[in-house]
Amino acid sequence: MARLRIKDILKTTPTEQTITVKGWVRTFRNNSFIALNDGSTNNNLQVVVDFENTAEEILKRITTGAAVSATGVLVASLGKGQTVELKATSVEIIGDSDAEKYPLQPKKHSLEFLREIAHLRFRTNTFGAVFRVRNTLAFAIHKFFNEKGFVYIHTPVVTASDAEGAGEMFRVTTLDMSNPPKDENGNIDFKQDFFGKSTNLTVSGQLEGELAAMAFSDIYTFGPTFRAENSNTARHLAEFWMIEPEIAFSDLSDNMDLAEEMLQYVIKYALENNSEDIQFLSQRLEDEEKQKPQNERSEMTLLDKLKFCLDNKFERITYTQAIEILRESNHNKKKKFQYLIDKWGVDLQSEHERYLVEKHFKKPVILTDYPKEIKSFYMRQNDDGKTVAAMDILFPGIGEMVGGSQREERLDKLETRMGEMGIPTEELSWYLDTRRFGSCPHAGFGLGFERLILFVTGMTNIRDVIPFPRAPKNCEF
Ligand code: 4AD
Ligand code: MG
Repeated sequence: MARLRIKDILKTTPTEQTITVKGWVRTFRNNSFIALNDGSTNNNLQVVVDFENTAEEILKRITTGAAVSATGVLVASLGKGQTVELKATSVEIIGDSDAEKYPLQPKKHSLEFLREIAHLRFRTNTFGAVFRVRNTLAFAIHKFFNEKGFVYIHTPVVTASDAEGAGEMFRVTTLDMSNPPKDENGNIDFKQDFFGKSTNLTVSGQLEGELAAMAFSDIYTFGPTFRAENSNTARHLAEFWMIEPEIAFSDLSDNMDLAEEMLQYVIKYALENNSEDIQFLSQRLEDEEKQKPQNERSEMTLLDKLKFCLDNKFERITYTQAIEILRESNHNKKKKFQYLIDKWGVDLQSEHERYLVEKHFKKPVILTDYPKEIKSFYMRQNDDGKTVAAMDILFPGIGEMVGGSQREERLDKLETRMGEMGIPTEELSWYLDTRRFGSCPHAGFGLGFERLILFVTGMTNIRDVIPFPRAPKNCEF
């Protein structure tokens, strides 16, 4: 008999029809009531076992974690929180689970503990909700760009270039590292490596994305990116997913409009299409907040925060204005920042970003026109000679969610800047070709997918929104 999904079953009314469900036992009470979950929803289907007509041998094997199949009819339920339940005529054990050894007991486990058993945490309510929301958001992103006529481009994962010019890449090699071939100068001879040169995992698909935008006008990428930065924080991963649109014939303002529209679209889509899971996560966060002292609790629930984000335009200010606000803030004067803001030109730390969005503006903020010294070589130089047409979108509780810019489309300016920054133009000659042949103003940004999921789920550690997190000294599963 065809398997029905619990999510769909819970929406139906009782019928005389016999149906089959399959899932994993969350709990089994009084030798009669199975709370069955198949991952289609956080809500369990109550399966009522006819224990008098079920062999003792079977009853004993209905344990937390076991995979079972149940066949029967749907009847109105008297239990609270559900309208229907399955009156089972037969229960079959598909996969046993030794209740003594099963790491997931039917009780509340800490997120830290669940991170250690990430192979099983999908089966909890919290992670069930988080990863269904992740799925919804991924779909919403593709839907958004597809509806706008963008072309989805697959940029390479292995690359010989360093898009950000910032180092911190994972090397890809097949050389014998215990005895690598050397050249006449005693350096490792990558000519003998698989690709005949030194290669890495990509840190960004942007440069290749720009090539495609110079033909399709509007493109986006959505794929894994890798950074070997030693940032052991709740906001950084060594492997994360990034969405990078690139739009031709566009400037920084178009870029900001696109980013804001996309963020609001996908958040709205998740609220409309996955409200059940978001409501669950909102409640979860409220419960968690109750453990905190009153003055540390958030004024808004997760649902409030998401709706607030849809109802308000993001604040747009320049880096220079931000520095003024930060410098004049009581926080700075009372030396509450770890890094005090004293002069124009310094890079903003996450404490500053969070002060701006959480304390000062209390909404998402787009910071523009950063000093060129702290940004990448490809960003378009402003007329003041000091700043570039960059933008970062900062979110409450998250900090930087999006980083982007208008690109330098003028060949001479780009080459000069690369020279100043010590970036060899020969190696990026393919990139410079777009400036040689039919160059045009264009812009794009990168959205850190996990940071978006953090915001929408209200989770606080980025390792809890990707199934198998990779971080310094951490590569399990
Ligand atoms: O600001 P970033 O480094 O920008 C770029 O990579 C550009 N090439 C994007 C572009 O213009 N096409 O990274 C973009 C975003 C950040 O704003 C942040 O959300 C996320 O990627 N991000 C990370 N997320 C998780 N872990 C990390 N280690 C991250 N580094 C960046
Ligand atoms: Mg950035």
